[in-house]
Amino acid sequence: PKAIFIDKDGGQYEADIPVGQSLMEGAVDNMIDGILGECGGVMSCATCHCYVAEDWQDKLPSASEREEDMLDMAIEPQDNSRLSCQIEMTEELDGITVYLPPSQF
Ligand code: FES
Repeated sequence: PKAIFIDKDGGQYEADIPVGQSLMEGAVDNMIDGILGECGGVMSCATCHCYVAEDWQDKLPSASEREEDMLDMAIEPQDNSRLSCQIEMTEELDGITVYLPPSQF
């Protein structure tokens, strides 16, 4: 399944991400600027912050309390903010679209 990342200037990048991998891992593997994933996915950095497109928000399991706490540390969190390391790719998420924040730090 593929994920689509849109940067602050509207640039669109696609990444094929194997089922079971996180969006963060897929973005890093595909060298998508804007997702850093400095902690490697253990919810201690918030540099994998992204904004989930409206159509996709309901399709994701809701964020854990720990993820919510970490999102408070992200730059300019919004209602649709998620940590991309906590979004696990599934077939159902084929085409998931997320917006990249202007900056991760
Ligand atoms: Fe560090 Fe997601 S990669 S919180």
